[in-house]
Amino acid sequence: MGIDLEDLKERAAAEIKSCVSLSSLEELRVRYAGKKSVLSAALRGMKDIPESERPAYGKKVNEIRDFLTAAIGEKERELKSSGKEERLKSEAADLTLPGKKKPVGALHPITRTYYEIRDIFVSMGFDVKDGPEVELDKYNFEMLNIPKDHPARDMQDTFYISEKVLLRTHTSPVQIRTMLREKPPIRMICPGRVYRSDDPDATHSPVFHQIEGLVVAEGISFAHLKSTLDLFLKELYGEETKTKFRPGHFPFTEPSAEVDATCAKCGGKGCGVCKGTGMIEVLGCGMVHPQVLRVCGIDPQIYSGFAFGMGLDRVTSIKYGITDIRLFFENDVRFLTQFR
Ligand code: DAH
Repeated sequence: MGIDLEDLKERAAAEIKSCVSLSSLEELRVRYAGKKSVLSAALRGMKDIPESERPAYGKKVNEIRDFLTAAIGEKERELKSSGKEERLKSEAADLTLPGKKKPVGALHPITRTYYEIRDIFVSMGFDVKDGPEVELDKYNFEMLNIPKDHPARDMQDTFYISEKVLLRTHTSPVQIRTMLREKPPIRMICPGRVYRSDDPDATHSPVFHQIEGLVVAEGISFAHLKSTLDLFLKELYGEETKTKFRPGHFPFTEPSAEVDATCAKCGGKGCGVCKGTGMIEVLGCGMVHPQVLRVCGIDPQIYSGFAFGMGLDRVTSIKYGITDIRLFFENDVRFLTQFR
């Protein structure tokens, strides 16, 4: 008595046909065509079959094994090729898809303003100088004619590091450093960060930016100061810009002046930015105090000079109508990417 070979063939064929993965196909191969398969067992069980039936039975078993082996081979090819197709399909590049956008950086608005101002002065022959932010009291105050008890020290609430060392409260010490190092003629600007112990609000920040200028040579007069700054402000804000020099006071210049320019926002008509006056204060300036020249080893009998300083944050706020300078320091990309 053998097993029902026809029934086995049909079941195995159906299983092979419906097989969907190479691993389950391998299980079927072991079960139906391998050495330990049902068919091998059937051949081994031939001794129980009447001798006359054995040849036909053996032939049938071999036929079924060949049939199933062929079916498994075919299924294997089918599964392999369909898997490859799927892989090719999933890996194919869709050339119609839009490209990935890489975010493009932008210059900080203060940097933009600085570059504009720098280019104007460089075109007039000025050099660009640099100086330390951690500065000596001597350069930040003393040599600028601001002695220990001078009231201007109170105006510039200072971060002291030690009695003699501080965070510079303005870029003016770079004037001193330059005059100590170089002989006239001197024509330089110096941009940089400055520090004052102010609580941050819409118009104050403990760190902000200034740009300083200095010209020292023989025969420099207030007329040179006026014409240079007038030309500068026309270049910065436009040909139509008018300037007004008002008397001012700085310990390191004599005489000193504050300069107003036509409001860049309203063109002089009067608006919120200029509080209806049509003019806006943009810089401080003056003729370098003879005492300042002297302490730097420059003879005030031979040489004279003018200096000026302005807040870059202020110039930038006016230019773009920014009402809260804290935005310059928060580095919010939504703000920064507006300046391209
Ligand atoms: N250092 C001054 C300040 O921080 C700005 C200034 C005014 C600079 C007049 C100058 C100048 O060089 O001549 O307020």
